[in-house]
Amino acid sequence: MKPIINWQELMKIVLPSPKPPGNGESPWMSRAFADMYNRMSALERTHTTNQVECMGIRPEDTVLDSGCGPGRLSVPLAKRAKSVTSLDFNPYCLEHVRENAAKEGVKNITPVLKDWTTVTPEEIGTFDVVVCSRSAGLSDFERLSSFSRRIVAVVSWGDGPNIPMILGEIFKGTSSKENPSRNRFHDRRFGFNMMFNTVYDLGFAPNVRYVEDGFTADFASRDEAYEHILPLGEVDKDKVDIFKANLEPYLTIKTDGTVTFLRKTESVVMWWDVNHRQ
Ligand SMILES: C[S@@+](CC[C@H](N)C(=O)[O-])C[C@H]1O[C@@H](n2cnc3c(N)ncnc32)[C@H](O)[C@@H]1O
Repeated sequence: MKPIINWQELMKIVLPSPKPPGNGESPWMSRAFADMYNRMSALERTHTTNQVECMGIRPEDTVLDSGCGPGRLSVPLAKRAKSVTSLDFNPYCLEHVRENAAKEGVKNITPVLKDWTTVTPEEIGTFDVVVCSRSAGLSDFERLSSFSRRIVAVVSWGDGPNIPMILGEIFKGTSSKENPSRNRFHDRRFGFNMMFNTVYDLGFAPNVRYVEDGFTADFASRDEAYEHILPLGEVDKDKVDIFKANLEPYLTIKTDGTVTFLRKTESVVMWWDVNHRQ
């Protein structure tokens, strides 16, 4: 089926990939990114289940998690599937995958260090389920489908802030250094709907579910919360009070003095059967 509107080209114009820093390397390649995203994944852990539960994973399924990051989805997927291949081009992310799998006693994950844009099914095989969340695979759904024998499932942001926007709020005015990735253009009309239209125009029958998402953790005290969340961004020595004030709307103090951090958001899961195609 030929699309009337080239949604993927429109996405590239409106939502370009994050710009590399001065050295030309992808901003996703660094250890700093891997460590930051690993911390965010731990805070997202309870809500991540909402995404995995939409994917209809069967115990006999082999799964590919493309652009797996620190294994936020790979680990809970591996608990439901026969095996998971966790592919990423950032070696520090794969270190976190290994650590996170070991912490949970998960032994059926194979980390693969490769670039998604050039890897072929001849190199890594095909899979019952191909998962791609917030990564490069979202710019080519035909390619994602070509690695799947049954289901492709993708995750993106719904009507709520994404991670750069959430960090943008918490670290607003806390550093003299600019972080351009946090100030990216955001317009609901150029969001998940374009992904849906792209998949639909490829002849597939996409299912969509909006799921509650969020970042949360319990702490013994306010100070413990500050200590845990501060390394997610940059705070100049004289701007710590700004960081604390920014965080305040997301902290709830309980009667026993313990503190809960919660920043709610929303994700969208879309999945389609590659064998159901017009
Ligand atoms: C925002 S993180 C998302 C991680 C994970 N999928 C999740 O939803 O929690 C994007 C990940 O995709 C990886 N990535 C981006 N482009 C890639 C590519 N061309 N090949 C392999 N991995 C890639 C990055 O290294 C990063 O770990």
